[in-house]
Amino acid sequence: MTSSRLRGLQGTRIFEEASDPEFQAASSRGSWGSLDKNRLFNASASRYQEAMRHLHRCVLSLIPLLCLASILAGCGNSDSGSPTASGSAKKTKSSYVIGMSQCNLGEPWRVEMNAQIKAAADKNPNLKVIFKDAQNDTLQQRAHVEEFVSAGVDLIIISPKEAQPLTEPVAKAMGAGIPVIVLDRRLIGDKYTCFIGADNKKIGRAAGEWIKEKLGGKGKLVELKGLMTSTPGQDRDSGFREAIAGSGVEIVFEADMKWLEPEARKEMESALSRFSKVDCVYAHNDPGAHGAYLAAKAAGREKEMKFVGIDALPQEGVAYVQQGIIDATFQYPTGGAEAIDAALKILQGQPVPKEITLGSRVFDKETIGAGGRELK
Ligand code: FRU
Repeated sequence: MTSSRLRGLQGTRIFEEASDPEFQAASSRGSWGSLDKNRLFNASASRYQEAMRHLHRCVLSLIPLLCLASILAGCGNSDSGSPTASGSAKKTKSSYVIGMSQCNLGEPWRVEMNAQIKAAADKNPNLKVIFKDAQNDTLQQRAHVEEFVSAGVDLIIISPKEAQPLTEPVAKAMGAGIPVIVLDRRLIGDKYTCFIGADNKKIGRAAGEWIKEKLGGKGKLVELKGLMTSTPGQDRDSGFREAIAGSGVEIVFEADMKWLEPEARKEMESALSRFSKVDCVYAHNDPGAHGAYLAAKAAGREKEMKFVGIDALPQEGVAYVQQGIIDATFQYPTGGAEAIDAALKILQGQPVPKEITLGSRVFDKETIGAGGRELK
């Protein structure tokens, strides 16, 4: 468009000069000597002014086109600026790399979390997720975060093993300008972009209410706790104790089974050897409840007590309730799909809440047929 306009402008000038007889003669002589210099100057000056007016009109008419072209160029540009969740300028790109640090893959719940993340990410061809498994080793998980920072990933998702030791590397990643989504277990302080998880205190409280009701307000209980340096362990314990406070439900034995089924089984063996009567086991996760059940079964005492767990994976806790192995499980969603949803928003510069709280359901004999009952 621009060049044809310019050609048109040149064409006008050539035509004017060619129609001046003196200009024509001088031109065919190949000499400009006999031309009146003033006339030539005036003629040239007026042609020059007319040409400039024409050029001006053309340039003015081009302005809207140039603006449109620059807007279109901006859309196609993969490095244009846009605001981030925190309001600072962040480059948006056409593809992104997410680093995901999983604290371990030894439990089905964490395998499920990774599968949900992968399934959600696979729906977005512009996302690539690099998964790392810390194998339940805090130092390895710290190293993951540092590696992701030096590799310059666009965003980090972490499901941390423990709060305290993972707080500093995450804060450093944030300091390096990499947004971080914390999944399931919390860190200390608020140096992360978004936390996603269910309300563990509420779940602990609901488990306490359920047990109080089913035991008729009294009984002897074994509490098998999740890793107490991780926040779900702390909250599932404190919520539970709040609910049973002042009732006749008595915690006769408590131990930290670190979320692990074999540890839970071992601790339950000690509990059974010390107490001739146990009415209920409250385990902070379904592998823990299952480990306790196996210990009680091996001692021939599984019918004497109720078993309550948390997680409610369909193939794990919910199946145990269906098979009559445990009595109740409280759902703890992994948040994998929600993490990718939040990641996309953050990467595209849209705001996300600092905290996303997931819901929970209880599955027991009465509610399992209806797909559980939502915790209010
Ligand atoms: C898996 C797990 C789950 C539990 C969650 C708590 O590692 O122990 O069973 O609900 O972690 O963080």
